[in-house]
Amino acid sequence: MLNFEDTAPVIDRTVVDIRQRVGVWRQAGDLTALVPTMGALHEGHLALVRAAKNAARRTVVSIFVNPTQFAPTEDLDTYPKNEGADLEALARLGVDAVFMPSAEEMYPPGFATSVMVGGVATDLETDFRPQYLTGVTTVVTKLLLACTPDCAIFGEKDYQQLLVIRRMTGDLGIPTTIIGHATIREPDGLALSSRNAYLTPAERAIAPTLYKSLARAAAAIRARAPIQRILSAASSDLRVAGFKVDYVELRNAETLAPVTDVASEPLRLLAAAWLGKTRLIDNIPA
Ligand code: PAJ
Repeated sequence: MLNFEDTAPVIDRTVVDIRQRVGVWRQAGDLTALVPTMGALHEGHLALVRAAKNAARRTVVSIFVNPTQFAPTEDLDTYPKNEGADLEALARLGVDAVFMPSAEEMYPPGFATSVMVGGVATDLETDFRPQYLTGVTTVVTKLLLACTPDCAIFGEKDYQQLLVIRRMTGDLGIPTTIIGHATIREPDGLALSSRNAYLTPAERAIAPTLYKSLARAAAAIRARAPIQRILSAASSDLRVAGFKVDYVELRNAETLAPVTDVASEPLRLLAAAWLGKTRLIDNIPA
């Protein structure tokens, strides 16, 4: 339920409408921050919205379940949706506008362009979900062109996605500052995710092992134990707990290149693993 003091955000469904709205704000001298999402909003998303409110006078949240970042075998059709609750939460936070385009608005008939990033996008998630990051960079480019924000906020939860988007905006000269936001977690360490809703109660009980094994590995890295042994131990902890592991990797936190000098590089541990039908990802500094 909305309280009388909450003002519902304006909903724009076309590129022309959102671009014009933000243009009017810009002419009035107001900066705009964008938070791109696929909806089914949780406290992780809402933390990004609060950061957007601190970064700029005007806030836009986009809600678009982007078909091009899902493989045909993935969960596009069952991806959780909760439009009413999403709009109520955004009204409570005082978001100015919500951009909710249709798939046809974003991908009109004959659409034939994609934005593909190399470097930071080449492995990790791409090894297991080849379509994902190109789908993301294509849609995020379109969202940035539609909303023309001064800054956009992305979560470290999807760490490779954040770095890929930062690389892309820099390389293409898109005049939007990309701001990263720390991962919001459940009290037991599980990173909030819309996909956590797929977990059975038994899987939910096991799920925090992903964060805990990364935290244990990070402590071992700081204690200078051998890297390969640490990463194998983390993978085997996950398997013993019931996960099917896609990867557990230690990478340079800025380039995502394999680490050559643990002592001097900024380090990030990244993992992806399945619990039943649900794929979970997480990452932490090391
Ligand atoms: P979605 O999974 O809805 O996430 C939207 C944003 O919320 C992303 O920047 C994501 O990193 C961030 N986020 C999700 N869970 C978080 C958590 N627990 N803590 C902090 N931030 C969190 O990521 C996407 O949508 C899409 O790929 C998108 C960028 C919208 C392009 O379609």
